Amino acid sequence: MTSSAAAVSRYNQNLTSALAEAEQRYIAANPSSAKLNAEARANLPGGNTRTTVHFSPFPLYIASGKGSRLTDVDGHSYVDFINEYTAGVFGHSNQVIAKAITDTLARGINFGAPTRHEIALSAEIRKRFPAMELLRFCNSGTEANLLALATARAATGKDAILVFNGAYHGSLFYFSHGASPLNMPIPVVTSTYNDTDVMKRDIADNAKRLAAVIIEPMQGGAGALPAEHQFIAALREATRQHGVLLIFDEVMTSRVHVGGLQAYFGVKPDLVTLGKYIAGGLTIGAFGGRADLMGRFDPSKPDAFPHGGTFNNNVVAMAAGYAALTELLTADNLNRMNALGDDLRDRLTGLATKHKAPMLVTGFGSIFGIHFHQGAARNVDDLDRGEVGRERAIADLKKLFHLDMIAAGQYISRRIMGNLSLETSPRETDAFAEAVEEFLVNRGSLLREAFA
Ligand SMILES: Cc1ncc(COP(=O)(O)O)c(C=O)c1O
Repeated sequence: MTSSAAAVSRYNQNLTSALAEAEQRYIAANPSSAKLNAEARANLPGGNTRTTVHFSPFPLYIASGKGSRLTDVDGHSYVDFINEYTAGVFGHSNQVIAKAITDTLARGINFGAPTRHEIALSAEIRKRFPAMELLRFCNSGTEANLLALATARAATGKDAILVFNGAYHGSLFYFSHGASPLNMPIPVVTSTYNDTDVMKRDIADNAKRLAAVIIEPMQGGAGALPAEHQFIAALREATRQHGVLLIFDEVMTSRVHVGGLQAYFGVKPDLVTLGKYIAGGLTIGAFGGRADLMGRFDPSKPDAFPHGGTFNNNVVAMAAGYAALTELLTADNLNRMNALGDDLRDRLTGLATKHKAPMLVTGFGSIFGIHFHQGAARNVDDLDRGEVGRERAIADLKKLFHLDMIAAGQYISRRIMGNLSLETSPRETDAFAEAVEEFLVNRGSLLREAFA
C-alpha cells in the first residue's frame, strides 16, 4: 500500500467508510480507465464482454504488458498476479512465443487444411498427459469440456453428468451456488467436493443414468480448493466400479504439477480437458483420453462422431503452443515456478497466524486463493458456512483488499485468486507478501471486527 493510503486508513473506524474512501482513491487515480469504461458501455452490456474481468467501480484498462508486469492506461505499473487467470504462464511479450507467431504468420494464416503444427503440438501434449491417448483441439476450455461431456454421453448412451458444487467448467457449465441460468440443458447430479461418502452414494444411486463425473482436481473458480488424495482415489474407484466415465477438467490445474494433478494424484482419468496456456497464450482448448472413446472421432469410420471447428487447428495457436511448451514450460521451469508458489502460500499463512487474522490461504503450486475465513475449508460449503451472518462484511473486505493491493501495485483479482508466471521473481512474491502484511496491519481491526 502507498504510504498515503495507509495514513488515510488510520482514520477509518468502520468497513463501510474505509471502503468508500478506497473507492474514491481508486476513481481519482484512474481517470483514463473510467473514461474507457464509460465509452465501452455504449456497445457492451455494462461495458463488459467477459464477466471475469469486471469489478466495481470499473476495471483497470491495460495498455501493455512486459515480463511479469502490466501497465494500465493511466500509466500505473503493476506486478501481474492474475496472469490471464492462469493462461498467462509465460508472462507478457515472451520473445520465443512472439517469434513462433511471426514466423508462422509470415507463411500464411488459416489454410482450411491440416498442417504439421497440429501433429507437433498434439504429440507434445500426449507426452505430458499420457491419459490423453488420442486428443482433439478446439477453441476454449469451455468448448473442450462441452465436447468431453458430449463424447461421454454419446459413447455411453447415458445422459446425466455428476458435477461438484462450486465447479467451474466454463461459462456454459458452472455451478457456483447452484447451476448458472446459462448452463447447457444437460441433466446433472450435484455432489459435494471432498466428501467421499456423499460422492460414493451419489454415484451409486445414479449410476444407471450417469454418463460421466466431471471434476476439477483443484476447484479454481471456487477459490483454489484442492481435492484430497483419498477423495480422488475413491472417485476413480467408484466411477470404475459403476461404469461411469471420469473426466478431469485440468484446464487450469495442468500447470501446477508436472503432468498435471492427474500425475500428482496418480490416477488415469478416462477423458481430460485442457486449455488456457497450451497455445502459449492464444485461443485454445483440447480434449482427449482413452483411445476407444476418442477413436470414435476418426472420420474414416462410417459412424464417426462429427466434430468440425473452423479454428480447431489454427496454425498460429498450434505453432505458438509448441514453442511455448517445448522451449519455455520445461519440467525444471514448471517446478521452479510451482515451488515459488508453495513458498508464497506458506508465507501468507504465516502472516495470518502472526497477525491472528481470519485469513485462509489455499491453492496448489503456483495458484493461490485468499479467503477471509476462520479455520480450514475443504469445499465451497465450508466457505459458505463461514460467511453466514457476515456475507456483506466479507464481500466488502474482499473489495477493500483488492483496492489496497492495486494501490500497492499488485494486480490481483477481486475474488482474491492469484497465480504466478514463469516471469514472477522471488523479489516480486516478497513484495506481494509485504503488501498483504500491510493490509493485515492497517485493516486488521476491520477484519477482526467482521469475525467478532
Ligand atoms: C477449470 C476450468 N474449466 C474450464 C474453463 C473455461 O475455459 P475458457 O475460459 O477457455 O472457456 C476454465 C476457465 O477459467 C477453468 O478454470
